[in-house]
Formats: sequence, C-alpha cells, structure tokens
Amino acid sequence: MTDWIPVDASGLTLEQKASLTSGADFWTTKAVPDAGIPSIMLTDGPHGLRRQAGSADHLGIADSVPATCFPPAVGLGASFDPALAERVGVALGVESAIADVAVILGPGVNIKRSLLCGRNFEYFSEDPILAGVMGAGLVRGIQSRGVGASLKHFAANNQEFDRMRASSDVDPRPLREIYLRAFQHVVEDAQPWTVMCSYNRINGVYASEDPWLLTHVLRDEWGFEGLVVSDWGAVNDRVKGLPAGLDLEMPASGGRTDAQLVAAVQGGTLDERALDVAAGRVLDLVRKAQARPPASGPDIDDGRWVAAHHALAREAAGRSIVLLKNDGALLPLHAGQKIAVIGAFAETPRYQGAGSSLINPTRLDTALDAIREVVSDAAYAPGFSLTGHDDDAQLAADAVAAAAAAEVAVVFLGLPAAAESEGYDREHIDLPAAQLAVLDAVVAANPRTVVVLSNGGVVALPFRDRVPAIVEGWLLGQAGGSATADVLLGAVNPSGRLTETIPLRLEDSPSYGGFPGEFGHVRYGEGVLVGYRWYDARGLEVAYPFGHGLSYTTFSYGDAAAAVTSSGDVTVTVPVTNTGAVAGREVVQVYTGRAGSIVQRAPRELKAFASLQLAPGQTREVTLTVRRADLAYWDVRVDRWVMEGGAYTVEVGSSSRDIRTATTVQIAGDEVRLPLTMESSVGDLLADPVAGPVVQQAMAALTGGFDDDDGMAKMMASFPIGRMVGFPGVPVTREQIEGLLAAANAGR
Ligand code: BGC
Repeated sequence: MTDWIPVDASGLTLEQKASLTSGADFWTTKAVPDAGIPSIMLTDGPHGLRRQAGSADHLGIADSVPATCFPPAVGLGASFDPALAERVGVALGVESAIADVAVILGPGVNIKRSLLCGRNFEYFSEDPILAGVMGAGLVRGIQSRGVGASLKHFAANNQEFDRMRASSDVDPRPLREIYLRAFQHVVEDAQPWTVMCSYNRINGVYASEDPWLLTHVLRDEWGFEGLVVSDWGAVNDRVKGLPAGLDLEMPASGGRTDAQLVAAVQGGTLDERALDVAAGRVLDLVRKAQARPPASGPDIDDGRWVAAHHALAREAAGRSIVLLKNDGALLPLHAGQKIAVIGAFAETPRYQGAGSSLINPTRLDTALDAIREVVSDAAYAPGFSLTGHDDDAQLAADAVAAAAAAEVAVVFLGLPAAAESEGYDREHIDLPAAQLAVLDAVVAANPRTVVVLSNGGVVALPFRDRVPAIVEGWLLGQAGGSATADVLLGAVNPSGRLTETIPLRLEDSPSYGGFPGEFGHVRYGEGVLVGYRWYDARGLEVAYPFGHGLSYTTFSYGDAAAAVTSSGDVTVTVPVTNTGAVAGREVVQVYTGRAGSIVQRAPRELKAFASLQLAPGQTREVTLTVRRADLAYWDVRVDRWVMEGGAYTVEVGSSSRDIRTATTVQIAGDEVRLPLTMESSVGDLLADPVAGPVVQQAMAALTGGFDDDDGMAKMMASFPIGRMVGFPGVPVTREQIEGLLAAANAGR
C-alpha cells in the first residue's frame, strides 16, 4: 500500500518541492519525512546491477555488491531477440528488487554513429529499429518486476569526447529517423518509468534544458508519462532545465540548485506550477517504487537466483556470439581433437567495458576452464602479456610450439580494457600489434587456426583471409567463457548477427572526418546514411556486413509475400527451412527500399526481424510486421512524419548483403498539401491539377511546346513562378499569377 504518499505536490512547501527534485546523495532521492515521503534509490545499469555499499562514484572506481554481469548491449543486441532481452530484463528487475533499488539506469539506446565511440559496448546497434526493439524488450522485463528502467542517454549522445559540452549538430531527418527513433520505439512500446537526459547539447541546446526535446517530442508527441532524470552531473542551469522538462537532478547538488529554484520562484522568474509538475512526477515515481512487494520467493530466499541468473547469462552470451567465418567447417571442435588454446584472454576474460556500467560479477567463467571440462588435455599458452610485465618473445615462442603440436589452434585476441571506456573515445580500430604478430606466427605454424575476439567496439580484421575461422565474441558478461566454449565445441549452434558493419578500413566509415568534431561542435554530416546505409549507398565493399552471422547448419528461404493490412502496416510472410543436419536458429531480416523516393534514402533499411529455432529439415512460415510508422520519413517542409506513397521493395534475407527473396508492395501515402506561393516552382504548379493545365498551355504558347525529355522542360521546372513577372519575353503579370495561385490553393 502506498496510500500515505501524497498524490500531488500541493500540500508541500516551496522548499520541500524544490528539495524533492534533486538527489540526496549519489544514488538516492530525498525523503520528506514530515510529508511521509521516503527516499528511493536509482543506480546503474544497464547489463547488471551496480549498487554501491561503500563509497560512491559514477566512473566504475569504487566497488559494488556482487550482481550478475549479463552480456553488455554489444553482445545481447547480436541475438536480434527481444524475448531474450526481456528475460534478461526480468533477471535485472529481480536483482534490483532484492537490493531494494527502485530504478536501474538502463538501457542505453544511442546509435553507434562512429566505430570510435568509447562507449559503443553499452549500445545495441547502428540501426534504430534494432536498438529500439531490443531496448523495449529489456525495459519490459525490468519493469515486470516492479522496478523502473531509465532509458538513456537522451539524445544524440554518440561520442565520449567532450561529452559534457559538445553540441551534436544534426539535421532534422537524421535526428528523427536515426537518432531519436530508437528512443521513440522504447517510449511508445514499453513506457519506461524514467528517461535520462544526456550530457551533450543538441544543435546548441543542452539536452537537460531543451523544452523541445524533453517536453514537446518526448511527452507531447510520444506520450511519455514518466520522469526525466539528468545524467549524473548533466545539469547546466536548473532554473532553465526544470520548466523545460527536467524533473529530477542527480546526483545531489548539496542544496545549491534547490535554493536557486526557490529564489527563482520567489523572484518571479520561475512559475511555481512547473515545480509542482516536477515534484509531482517524483512523487509518482516514489509511489510506483513503493508499490513493489518485497522481493521474496524460494529462489530468492535461499540464494538460488545466483545460479539461475548465471545460467541465463551463459545462454544470453551463447546467443550473442557471431560466427564470422568457418571455412571447411573447422568449427565446431570435438572432444577427441588435440587443441591448443592460445591468448591470455582465454584465462583472463575481457567481459565488460569500463565506467559506470562496471559490474562486480557473482562468478566469472573462463573459456580455458570450460574448454578443458570437455577437452581435458587442451594445451594452453598465453601468447602475449596483458600486463606488459612478461617476456613477449618467450610467450610468442611457447604459443607457436603449442600450435605446432596441435590439430587446431584457438587464438583468443581482444582489446585491452583501457582501449575502450566510458569517458573517452578510441583513436583507431586496430588490435594490439603484439597480438597480431603472435597470430601470424601461430598461423604459420598451424594454418588450422580459429580466432576468438573479445572487443566492445569493432576491430579491423587484417587476418581475415589468412585464418579459416573467426568467432566474434564481443563482450559477453560473466558467463562468456563457458558460452564461448559452448559455441566452439558445438553445444550451442551460433546464431548471433552483426548489429554493426565491420568495414575494411576505418577510413571507409560514415562519420570518418566528422568525428569527434572540433571546438565544441560535431556535425553529423553523413545525415541519414549511418552504418550499413552508408556502405550500401556508396557501394563499398566491407569485411562483414550488418546482419551477418553463420551457423553450423544452413537455411533456405521460400518466396516472400507482402501485404498491407487494414491498419496500414505491412505483413511479410516467408517460409524458412533448416536444410542442414543440426538444429539451429535463423535471424530472418526484412529490409525495405524505395527507388526514386522524393527524399534521400539508403538502398535498404531494416524494418523487421525474427529469430526462429528450427530442427533439421523443419520448415516454418514466419510472419513479420513492418509498421507503417517505421516506413515514414520526417518531412522538413511540414515538420512531421509522412508516408510516401508508391512501390516499396521488400527484401528478406540472412544479412543485409545476403538477400534471399524479394517482393514489392504498393503503399498508399499521406498527402502533403503545401500552399502554392510566388516561391513555388513551375514544376510545382505543373503538378497541381488546377494550375497545371494553365501553365502547360502558357508554356506551350511561349516556346512552341516541348516534350518531357526536353532539357528545356527540366530547366524550367525549377524556375520560381514569381520570377516570371517582368521577365523579358514572358507576357505575364503579377495579378495573373496571383489569381492562378488563389484558384489552385482554393482546391487544396
Ligand atoms: C553515465 C550514465 C550513468 C551515470 C550514473 C554517467 O556518467 O553517463 O550512464 O548511469 O553516470 O553512474
């Protein structure tokens, strides 16, 4: 029962209201004991619970109580499975409830704009639909346990360099269609209890004080009903931020900004009603949090959840692994083989990123132990040093000897922890030279080499033509070691897919040269062509495309069919068959395109996907829904979403560059009626049913007529009609044009 918590802020004093809207300390809100309002805790997030018991920080410095470290978003996203994300979310909710945490700070659905963003491991994808669908799954799971999620970092926070000041300068279309779209999906589909505004500015305005972002878009357009919390330290000017829509400042400001609010209300520069609204939202959040019954149940009371969540972390990690290459079916390995495990990451896993998301895991599996559980005599050589304190030449020599004596060498390579982190970006995408050198030496000694990668951001793969098998393990959480062994040894058939393109070179990537900006501004010059949209539009060869990932079985696709439903969505149906000898999971991907569009578009865009398990020989017909809203573009002329009518290609495949079947669907568009003015072009008038014939006739009289593919017609099409007045040889008056425009506009 939460009856004792006031339903609104009307009974509170000005000072009480101000105090409610900022933190008490690092992780909790303020209690107002006189009014019966308790304090609640908000803490990180996103792929495990980071509840600090002693000293507090938001940079991953001081310890936190043990919690399950699930795969960070870079891994989980590769499952392309929102149901799995939801199950992980449930576990996060349970652990939060056990620790009496009201809100867990995640998920993060920012778009991976650049390969270099130091925090890409915390984000799902370069694609907004994928990020939005996966984020919504996590939120649903967390909140099903009476715990709030915090959707972050809102918005256009796509780099760490200068993150607390830099302005992301983004045009309306990419902002809406790429950077806000994932947030919109999560808000509309899962209604998170809180949204965390980001540190950065957007087109010059701090996210924490942007009424357009925090109120107009988030609440008025998307229907957000929860509370907006600042990122930790994101408040620039609280008196400005509060009426813009920032409800809660975190962490504490020591009373300084509360006093500013009180003074502003008293001085008449801040409307007290804005404070009432923000304080009311804090009360709502406190009430929701208090409504959760205490966490209990057999698994919780006797601690069995630890083992159950570890098992789920292992399953999720297995689903996150992407098999990039497997020539000659080198994988899976089997127990009877003589295997050499090489690379320090096999023994000392790199399983999560650095910063505020750093989890203190309940357990930690290593791939070496897990492999040896099946292949007890597997040899091991670290190959390189993670500390820099060992004799590199000796390590390399031992690795080569182990590889030469084995049937198969499995080499664990990866980025060192300091190479990628919250708070700073990467400068390149290369693996350490010492690791690459060891790999070369191992391959020379034994060409039957499997590379296993641990990295939160994309790395270049200069060896990809020289090794037969590559396993992209991303960062896999605390059970990543055993999950990697599951995939290597075939206990799990890999099904992860690339959520981001692996290009041949950093220089090919969309934001190259436009990242991380300069002098406080970063211009998103690539526009809507982010990620695979860019590589496809430019026809660039890539190392591995978006959506790619192999399996130990094979799948075939029948013909796709697409139809528009009564609600305007498009349903796509396709039969998929497991044509191999083992059970496996296929990620069916639907991409749409619109050739000849009136706006710039990528050749194909992911609009729906499904992950389905198939027994050998089994066929299933899968139906996917492409939402009409997801096909719309943001029309800058009318400042709203518009569905362009016409023929859309619907491609269905196993990756963005492995399209198996395609069809076309005709979709009715939204009408955009813009009044014709003196600025309208001859072409605009020609397209109008009233003005068109008149202009056509006048032009014919003037020129003797020209046909459609006459260059003259094209040239005239962009001539503003108003400039015709007084033009030598054009006998038209201003009044005549005004009359024509009035007649045409009357019919609009
Ligand atoms: C991060 C957030 C995090 C917060 C609290 C900030 O530095 O950007 O993602 O939730 O700290 O630790």
